[in-house]
Amino acid sequence: MSLKQIQSPIAADMQVVNTVIRNSLHSEVSLINTIGEHIIGNAGKRLRPALVLLSSGLLGSVSSQQHQIAAIIEFIHTATLLHDDVVDESELRRGKSTANHIFGNAASVLVGDFLYSRAFQMMVAIKNMRVMDILSEATNIIAEGEVLQLLNLHNADVSEAAYLKVIHYKTAKLFEAAARLGAVISEDNNSSDEENLALYGMHLGTAFQLVDDVLDINGDAEKTGKNLGDDLTEGKPTLPILYAMHQSDAKQAAVIRQAIEQGGDNDIPAVLAAVAATNACEYVLSIAKKEADAACAAIEGFADSEYKTAMIQLTEFSVSRQF
Ligand code: IPE
Ligand code: IPE
Ligand code: MG
Ligand code: MG
Repeated sequence: MSLKQIQSPIAADMQVVNTVIRNSLHSEVSLINTIGEHIIGNAGKRLRPALVLLSSGLLGSVSSQQHQIAAIIEFIHTATLLHDDVVDESELRRGKSTANHIFGNAASVLVGDFLYSRAFQMMVAIKNMRVMDILSEATNIIAEGEVLQLLNLHNADVSEAAYLKVIHYKTAKLFEAAARLGAVISEDNNSSDEENLALYGMHLGTAFQLVDDVLDINGDAEKTGKNLGDDLTEGKPTLPILYAMHQSDAKQAAVIRQAIEQGGDNDIPAVLAAVAATNACEYVLSIAKKEADAACAAIEGFADSEYKTAMIQLTEFSVSRQF
């Protein structure tokens, strides 16, 4: 099932969201338009805005605000990508050279700030305190997640729980906010529906990032549009690497520990051999599958609809995805 097929119930609304994104990007400063166009010109999967639309569609009410909110979520996501690629020193994103690689770190950070603050201008225009509350909290948590992750770099003693906290913060929180907001702007919103949708988003986002960390090891750069091995080079202790270290014999474990502590690419072949020998990617995918199942369970109680079907298919996509 392709993403396009999954998103078919909201295809027309996604077009409207795209127009809002395009129209809201504009600045009188040309470098902002250039970098904005560079990153948004190649749209990406648009999963988070889709979640806003699916979640409000599931509750059976379509609000005119949903397109604005979906665009705001995508702006926040795009700002995190601009900043993340600077922090991770990544050179490829969406199949193109990253903005930091072409325009430099300073320009990327500043245009990321522009996108964040544009998102907040759009948010204020909606004049809904709950919406502002949810989005400002999510943005703040993402920043905490990225800083926590920075603190964990080169630390081979990071626990599975500490790793999960980072991915909840840096990634799952925005998925949660997107799904929750779909409920908040629906007229027939009630608090248990909202909590169930938020839970769905959180589990979906967790599965999504677990798989992202697997794809950094065994993905195909042609499909992901990102360079492989960025996490290892950076000394980022992701779950597949930690699991491989814990399951290896002392000699292999010492090599992985050194790879995390020193970063760089000298030890990559040995680490990849240990990852393969311990079935570490299969293990992480099995955890992602559990998260995807938990996401499905959270929306079990809603009446069947094309939106619900799409949301279940998205959980499958989050685990089986190659990009
Ligand atoms: C990339 O997110 C950042 C992560 C949370 C792994 P996506 O994979 O959704 O990025 P795009 O928007 O489709 O490029
Ligand atoms: C993504 O983390 C999280 C955010 C962008 C906040 P990653 O560093 O794993 O994402 P990619 O692999 O660069 O897309
Ligand atoms: Mg990154
Ligand atoms: Mg990654």
